[in-house]
Amino acid sequence: MKPSQSSKPLAVIVLLIALHPVHAQDIAAGQAVFAHCAACHSINGSNGIGPSLQGIAGRKAGSFPGFEYSRAMKANVTVWDAQSLNAYLGDPHGMAPGNLMPFLGLADAVQRADLVAYLVTLPPRGLAGITPPRLYAGHPGN
Ligand code: HEC
Repeated sequence: MKPSQSSKPLAVIVLLIALHPVHAQDIAAGQAVFAHCAACHSINGSNGIGPSLQGIAGRKAGSFPGFEYSRAMKANVTVWDAQSLNAYLGDPHGMAPGNLMPFLGLADAVQRADLVAYLVTLPPRGLAGITPPRLYAGHPGN
């Protein structure tokens, strides 16, 4: 066996590890993914086509003041957190049947995890400008 052949399995293992990194959620990358949402959602409290996502984490679904939600969203008892946001953004109509968000979902799990990591940092009304604790960043369950 030539030396180059014997080193092949190692090279394959190294490649597999490189292709399968443990992904730490990246808030900055998530902020870039938010470009998919910004046409409809603000983070500053003003409602547009969609409700503002200001302080979305910890808020009950369908409850942002001044936005005309669908009946389904108002009736949804979910309190948004990293897990439910991830489920909703992966499959909006599966997770919240009857909701009217005209968005099919983000299939890419890494993009979704980054986006959720960003969303949960959005401070609630009145706290804008205060850097939120990065509670969810790098949480293994996200
Ligand atoms: C074309 C417009 C549009 C786009 C794009 C869009 N949304 Fe929405 N979104 C809506 C609408 C409208 C609703 C309200 C749905 C309802 O009332 O049934 C909504 C609801 C939501 C809710 C629930 C809010 C609440 O107060 O309960 C979340 C969370 C959300 N969107 C996140 C996102 C994210 C994150 C993205 C980007 C990946 C996104 N949306 C893309 C229009 C949009």
